[in-house]
Amino acid sequence: MGQGALVSALGPAAVRCSGSLPEIGPTNRDELVLASGLRYRVLVCEGDRISSGARGDLRFGSNNDFIAFFAGPDADRALLWVNHEMPCGLFDGERVFWIPRTRTEFERSRASVGGSCIAIERESSGQWSLAANYDQNFRLDAASPITLSRPIGGTTKAEGTLGNCAGGVTPWGTLLTCEENHLYYFGDTRWSGGRREVFYEPRDHKRLDWHRFRANNPDHYGWVVEVNLETGVAQKQIALGRCFHECATVAPARDRSGRVAVYSGDDTIGGCIYKFLSRDANSLAEGELYAANTRTGRWELLDVARPELREFNTQLNVLIHARQAALLAGATPQDRPEDIELDPSDGSVYISLTNNTRREPPNYHGSILKLIEAGGDPLALQFTTRTFFTGGEKFSCPDNMAFDPRGNLWLASDISEHDRETAPYQSFGNNGLFYIPLHGPDSGAVFQMGSAPNDAEFTGLRFAPDGRTLFLSVQHPGARTRSKSNPTSRWPDGDFPRSAVVTIGGPTLDALAAV
Ligand code: FEO
Ligand code: CA
Ligand code: CA
Ligand code: CA
Repeated sequence: MGQGALVSALGPAAVRCSGSLPEIGPTNRDELVLASGLRYRVLVCEGDRISSGARGDLRFGSNNDFIAFFAGPDADRALLWVNHEMPCGLFDGERVFWIPRTRTEFERSRASVGGSCIAIERESSGQWSLAANYDQNFRLDAASPITLSRPIGGTTKAEGTLGNCAGGVTPWGTLLTCEENHLYYFGDTRWSGGRREVFYEPRDHKRLDWHRFRANNPDHYGWVVEVNLETGVAQKQIALGRCFHECATVAPARDRSGRVAVYSGDDTIGGCIYKFLSRDANSLAEGELYAANTRTGRWELLDVARPELREFNTQLNVLIHARQAALLAGATPQDRPEDIELDPSDGSVYISLTNNTRREPPNYHGSILKLIEAGGDPLALQFTTRTFFTGGEKFSCPDNMAFDPRGNLWLASDISEHDRETAPYQSFGNNGLFYIPLHGPDSGAVFQMGSAPNDAEFTGLRFAPDGRTLFLSVQHPGARTRSKSNPTSRWPDGDFPRSAVVTIGGPTLDALAAV
């Protein structure tokens, strides 16, 4: 079916069969629309209570993103970690605000970000639901005490975590949650003329602007945060550098040394792709940080001993200003690196480059870059790249990805809610969920399996180990809402919109992903 015919399907999202698989066409329906043989159930929503008495009144945070699945002591119990990327909207009568105007609103806003650890259990029907026992549940938010692995500004004590977009999981069982758009809260710093300089973008952004209430050090945000889910203890791992970390995808070394490579993208126009190589087994405390020169196929070491980086004076300054250091070291600016996933069949690295409308010519639809390390070794310092997929036909603005247990790729698009009704994006309808088989007769084809409610994007794709459930974040439905009585989405309750985690299952998922 050609693109023109797809445009005409924007209303009802008819289920179509493309070759052997059912799929849907683009749609603007304010619903989570799925291909036939798939069904969803809401697991937990923004604002839902996730605590019992002993831990106080814990609520599931706002704008859920990354999801990690930690198998429990038996196959029917597990823990989910869920990131909360942005604060809640705040109401004043009918109006909805994003900038907190009072200290009470600031506190509420601060409590809505970070992450949630929630226990889940599998019912006899096979579906996952929140566990009846909330004892293991906890929250980290922007007020939680979190240590810095190295002192910054004379202290190792940071206040909270925020901007928690995507993340990763280590082989030793800890969780990595990434601080992405941190500058909108307390401002940001840069290295200029041999010294650190503060600049305050929150004023211009007109959304968050928390530094009016609390003058926290901007250098305390923009890190990869490692969380021990058993103890709830969190630490910002300074050796991985500071930028708009989208994700932290961990590849264990093949030599069984216990060392790891951690891949991360800096989601900003012209942001680079980073790789951290740990020095020690089962630890991210020490190691070397690199950034990718995709022109030469070399990982460039970000070390203050390099002549180009000596102006930073100390390695800590290089790490705090990793974005500037990467460019000085010759790393290649990219079109907004988003999620990074590893192909389980050969370890190759898939990187979503979502779009860049400010370059000439504009890159409206983005692409997926495939990076292959020399010798397939995550510790290698050289690599090759090729464009694996280009957006613009079935999907635009690739963002979150996941490999299912059979090794096929699932992808979610993120066309901005502010752009989605105008050219060149309107033909794509609402953001979608796509299945891209990498094996078999349909290898390389793209099938749309889901469509998000109005203004939402799908994030945090995570398969249960048996492939029979896909945990999925539905983030920011109704994001353009400014009036409480006239929201731009009414998902999921038919009332005011709420972000939520859903479980997706059904015979089509069983046929595609179950093992
Ligand atoms: Fe939070 Fe770059 O998406
Ligand atoms: Ca997002
Ligand atoms: Ca993203
Ligand atoms: Ca995005």
